[in-house]
Amino acid sequence: IYKWYRSGLNRWHGLGSTADFQKIIQERCDNYPQQIWSYSRSRNCQEIKQAFMSAFISKDPCKATKEDYRRLIDLADPTVPCNKIVLWSKTKELAREYAKPRGLVTLEDTLLGSLADDLHWCGEPGSPDLNTWSCPDWKKDCRTNYLTVFWEVLSKRFAESACGTVQVVLDGSLENAFNEMSIFGRVEAPNLKPMVTLQAWLVHDPGKPPRDSCSGSSITKLKSILSERNVRFICRDNLSRDEFLGRF
Ligand code: APR
Repeated sequence: IYKWYRSGLNRWHGLGSTADFQKIIQERCDNYPQQIWSYSRSRNCQEIKQAFMSAFISKDPCKATKEDYRRLIDLADPTVPCNKIVLWSKTKELAREYAKPRGLVTLEDTLLGSLADDLHWCGEPGSPDLNTWSCPDWKKDCRTNYLTVFWEVLSKRFAESACGTVQVVLDGSLENAFNEMSIFGRVEAPNLKPMVTLQAWLVHDPGKPPRDSCSGSSITKLKSILSERNVRFICRDNLSRDEFLGRF
């Protein structure tokens, strides 16, 4: 019985596809505000939705490649003005709260990032449907799953496109505010262009003491990755949430 169970739609260890995935994508696309950095070509939500679905439907959910997403990415490649990009690691809500009133842009503000934000998706070989029972988990099943590869491809393009000063919001309450295995650590930081400046903010949670600092070993590692690429680095630590958000 266990063997049957694990060979079926329930065999993966991650959350299954979000209910109404297609409908949510369509709605988010239709309601996406038309801003200058949103997309390069004209936005065709029907086409975008189809490109998204055909990237993973009927395919082995552990064999995602960058190429699977090429058509989708090409349909909605964002162009963000210099000095406006905000990256994050373990701090999505805080980064978004910081970015919004300042007119800054996180990946989740770009069209494709906003479509996929907080959703899960995977297919099943030989089936036209999404697997709503389970999808592969990064650690327990496979790294080359469609969710991980999507965020990697999108994040790489986003980081490569950045110019001027890029900001990153890091969690200063963690022992290692910079994590080399995170998307920021393995995909974004190593793909910033030379001459870009990275401004890091180490923000600690209310009621928690700061545990990492700009002179700690994790940030030292970040500095060395950046200096190899000629990316300048500025770091501010010991910030409370309220200080960081400008509320005193
Ligand atoms: N919604 C859901 N999942 C996401 C999102 C999102 N908007 N963005 C990334 N993910 C996935 C990725 O697989 C990522 O590894 O969730 C994980 C978030 O993990 P964290 O450790 O908090 O952050 P990190 O891995 O550093 O990724 C965040 O990558 O997506 C970009 O620009 C974004 O700078 C940000 C960084």
